[in-house]
Amino acid sequence: MTPLLFMLCSGVFHFTLANRLRIFRLCEECNWEDALNRCNERNESIITLYDEKDVNFTESFIKNMSTQNVWTGLHIGRNNVSAWSDGAPLTFNMSHANVANGEQICEAIVNNTWEGFNCSDRKPFMCQKDNSYFLIKNEAKNWCQAHQHCRRYYGDLVSIRNETQNQQVIKKGNGATFWIGLMHDEWKWMDNSCSTYRRWEIRDKDEKCTMLSTIAMLPSMQTQACDNVQQPLFSKGSVRIIVIQKKLNWEQAFDYCKAEHTRLLQIEDAEDQKAIEQWLKYSNPNVNEKIWIGLRQSRVFGFWIWSDKTVSYSHWRNNTMPKMPLSNHCGVINRNSYRWSDENCLLQLSFICEEDIIYMKN
Ligand SMILES: *[C@@H]1O[C@H](CO)[C@@H](O)[C@H](O)[C@H]1NC(C)=O
Ligand SMILES: *[C@@H]1O[C@H](CO)[C@@H](O)[C@H](O)[C@H]1NC(C)=O
Ligand SMILES: *[C@@H]1O[C@H](CO)[C@@H](O)[C@H](O)[C@H]1NC(C)=O
Ligand SMILES: *[C@@H]1O[C@H](CO)[C@@H](O)[C@H](O)[C@H]1NC(C)=O
Ligand SMILES: *[C@@H]1O[C@H](CO)[C@@H](O)[C@H](O)[C@H]1NC(C)=O
Ligand SMILES: *[C@@H]1O[C@H](CO)[C@@H](O)[C@H](O)[C@H]1NC(C)=O
Ligand SMILES: *[C@@H]1O[C@H](CO)[C@@H](O)[C@H](O)[C@H]1NC(C)=O
Ligand SMILES: *[C@@H]1O[C@H](CO)[C@@H](O)[C@H](O)[C@H]1NC(C)=O
Ligand SMILES: *[C@@H]1O[C@H](CO)[C@@H](O)[C@H](O)[C@H]1NC(C)=O
Repeated sequence: MTPLLFMLCSGVFHFTLANRLRIFRLCEECNWEDALNRCNERNESIITLYDEKDVNFTESFIKNMSTQNVWTGLHIGRNNVSAWSDGAPLTFNMSHANVANGEQICEAIVNNTWEGFNCSDRKPFMCQKDNSYFLIKNEAKNWCQAHQHCRRYYGDLVSIRNETQNQQVIKKGNGATFWIGLMHDEWKWMDNSCSTYRRWEIRDKDEKCTMLSTIAMLPSMQTQACDNVQQPLFSKGSVRIIVIQKKLNWEQAFDYCKAEHTRLLQIEDAEDQKAIEQWLKYSNPNVNEKIWIGLRQSRVFGFWIWSDKTVSYSHWRNNTMPKMPLSNHCGVINRNSYRWSDENCLLQLSFICEEDIIYMKN
């Protein structure tokens, strides 16, 4: 083992047990099974990729450690290829989807019939709580984001168990096209999270594990024999960091994150701060120096708050909390120093959202 890798694995980056924001760690090479065991020791997971931003981050993170291929958490082994988002197997079956070639397929109702689509397509969707149905038609989301939205505000995406219910759902849909809770997939991510990201370059039917390869111009996913050795990339934490390039004032950024993701970024402890530093450093977003975070000052009392809690941990510039009456009332993180400072809430700046990861039930 080289000294660098030894350091990486022996915890120079100290991980406490409960991380909120996702943070990454590259480990020395091993087969997929061993990677799995190492994860369990430290409550980590082999990484899940959610989108191209994740892939770009991963590429620059591992290239910095002079590595080009890493194990990813995707592997064959979903219990039932076809299952509802609440974990139930497909019993009442109106699906025509061709699942034989191993693609991830999600079902929508189109013109009153079930039809399979690429799960990363954005569509309206129908949520269910007990025996009530809610058609969300003003927000088009990919299947996993729709799943997340339903879990957060209702119960789950709608799942259909018999013809009576099918007719009720169709009636409620009133001719619209919308996602329902059925996903076909023979692959699952190690941490069981919901992700619609796939960009296969090589997919060999006999191999059950996967890696991300960054050797070619565009990074891509490739199947691998599970007993090959490879460096695993581990992650920890259940909240993703999402940098939005678009420029908005603080209030608009706050609303945007709430609608599109979960909330404007909160940095609640030193682990969160480390995670955001790591993400900004390697994801290298195309944004200016100052980036909105969910930090705001009470104009009446002068203390600083996150959207739903007071600020306890802090990382202010010069270690100095901006005080009234000279302060501006909204908070940014500075891209290079990673320090926080105050800004006029009406400035149009890029911003950082956070998104709760949604886990599958099967
Ligand atoms: C990822 O990186 C590629 C190549 O550098 C770039 O073209 C692409 O825009 C990046 N994607 C995102 C979402 O940042
Ligand atoms: C990795 O990042 C460090 C710190 O930014 C930098 O000094 C080093 O040159 C980078 N290494 C490679 C191989 O890119
Ligand atoms: C898989 O689906 C079958 C019916 O299609 C069901 O009997 C079985 O319980 C399901 N397995 C799991 C683990 O959900
Ligand atoms: C559902 O029906 C389709 C089409 O008849 C069939 O190909 C598929 O295997 C069925 N799925 C299950 C889980 O029974
Ligand atoms: C919907 O279905 C009806 C009857 O099957 C058909 O006449 C109509 O063209 C379909 N509409 C679309 C948009 O596919
Ligand atoms: C699904 O759509 C995404 C983005 O449009 C694309 O990259 C991917 O290849 C598609 N997947 C399949 C199976 O067609
Ligand atoms: C259809 O399924 C729903 C939901 O599981 C259930 O409440 C209802 O009793 C079922 N209806 C029939 C006719 O089986
Ligand atoms: C392990 O990580 C999960 C997901 O990030 C978290 O919910 C759980 O509390 C962690 N367990 C411990 C013992 O820290
Ligand atoms: C913070 O420190 C910088 C450089 O160290 C200095 O130029 C600046 O005046 C300080 N700001 C405040 C508010 O103390």
